[in-house]
Amino acid sequence: MKELFVCNEGDIAEGGRKVVAEDGVEIGVFRVGGAIVAWRNHCPHQGGPVCQGRTMKRVEERLTDSKQSLGIHYVEGSLNVVCPWHGYEFDVRTGRHVGHDAMKLASVAVKNRDGAIYVVVS
Ligand code: FES
Repeated sequence: MKELFVCNEGDIAEGGRKVVAEDGVEIGVFRVGGAIVAWRNHCPHQGGPVCQGRTMKRVEERLTDSKQSLGIHYVEGSLNVVCPWHGYEFDVRTGRHVGHDAMKLASVAVKNRDGAIYVVVS
């Protein structure tokens, strides 16, 4: 295993990301809810560069007790990434596909050493 320097902690803004590569392995590093998380840039669908997709807050539809729509809204504090190949959408916090719990991005360990962010490449 090898640690790869990504950037200094302050270099990724909330909702932002940085994609790094080492020996043919690409890793997307995101800041969401103040935390730094990292995922392999390899979509579990067909291998697309998921970490380079569009990001947005999760969209939910509010319903009344009788299931009438009150409209859609963005969920504050959430962050989803959409794979650019076929549009599969993943929760950046958990790596899980928003519609299929079993489909998940591969996580990568993150280390913060005195404000410097590293990912562990295996
Ligand atoms: S490869 Fe990502 S949605 Fe198909």
